[in-house]
Amino acid sequence: MKVVLFSSQNYEKPFFSQALDEHPNIDLHYVTESLNEQTVALCQGFDAICVFVNDTLNEAVLSKLAEFGIQVVALRCAGFNNVDIKMANKLGIKVVRVPAYSPEAVAEHCIALMLTLSRKTHKAYNRVREDNFDLNGLLGFNLHNKTVGVIGAGKIGQALISILNGFGANVLVYDPNVGEGSYTLASLDMLLKQSDIVTLHCPLTDSTHHMIDDNAFAKMKKGVMLINTSRGALIDSAACIRALKSRTLGYLGLDVYEQESELFFKNRSEEIIQDDIFSRLISFPNVLVTGHQGFFTQEALEQIAAITLFNLNEVAQGNTQLTNQVL
Ligand code: NAI
Repeated sequence: MKVVLFSSQNYEKPFFSQALDEHPNIDLHYVTESLNEQTVALCQGFDAICVFVNDTLNEAVLSKLAEFGIQVVALRCAGFNNVDIKMANKLGIKVVRVPAYSPEAVAEHCIALMLTLSRKTHKAYNRVREDNFDLNGLLGFNLHNKTVGVIGAGKIGQALISILNGFGANVLVYDPNVGEGSYTLASLDMLLKQSDIVTLHCPLTDSTHHMIDDNAFAKMKKGVMLINTSRGALIDSAACIRALKSRTLGYLGLDVYEQESELFFKNRSEEIIQDDIFSRLISFPNVLVTGHQGFFTQEALEQIAAITLFNLNEVAQGNTQLTNQVL
């Protein structure tokens, strides 16, 4: 099976090389381009494509894939909001994904954002390097006894709740699909009103798009911390700026950003960033942004490569029931 892997990065190649030892029938070609309407021609001559979070699989791209006889789209990530699933089904293109590779990787990164923001370790690091041991401006707060609202308690949300339980935080959960656990179930309104920290772990869908907007900020506690390691468009970024300026939002930690496909996963230090909303966001002293690295651990990359090739191999073997198909 000939597979073209889009948006490839050097750091993932060793993990795929190792996983390929188990699947000699898969012939993997790497391209650095992202998949979109301009680059879809690169798929010609392949049986399958492998894509990541910021590749675009809309109606136009999927129609071209069907024209080229592509049988399968293998996502090497968990989220599939960038794929028009209905259109893929209509065109007979199977979509497979890596539903869980290391929920702990993302949960731990989420905690890293919370602790960095609350204890200001990023600022302390710079100060100490310049022999500045002044503590003014570094005052933090304990996670112990704080109320943390978790929106979406699936695999990542549950991994995070276990860690938060260890900190002695009071955990509120809003998720229409989970039952009782080591947390208090809450309505979204109650969670927004009572939480000192709100953290997002639900998928991006039409109904969750901009779920954190002016209206949601108006319900939150003054000085709340908001963390998003899920998908950028869960938050209305312009509303975030307004909430930061009014100090409703006391801390913001983002690993994902609404327009990240134009920015993330590349060194742009020599470019002039054109996204004024992003530039404004990172200018606040109480905002910390990482470039979609929640998944980026050794353990997660091993799993991503192994499960992606397992998924492709199921198709190559002609299986009709695919373990990780998105329907
Ligand atoms: P999951 O499918 O296990 O859990 C999602 C949970 O969200 C489910 O329990 C579901 O019932 C709940 N949910 C759905 N709609 C909701 C709503 N309107 N309000 C509240 N809860 C809702 O997914 P998992 O593995 O925990 O991943 C969550 C998200 O994290 C993914 O959708 C993906 O976007 C993101 N992610 C980010 C990564 C990163 O590197 N930053 C890496 C992997 C995933």
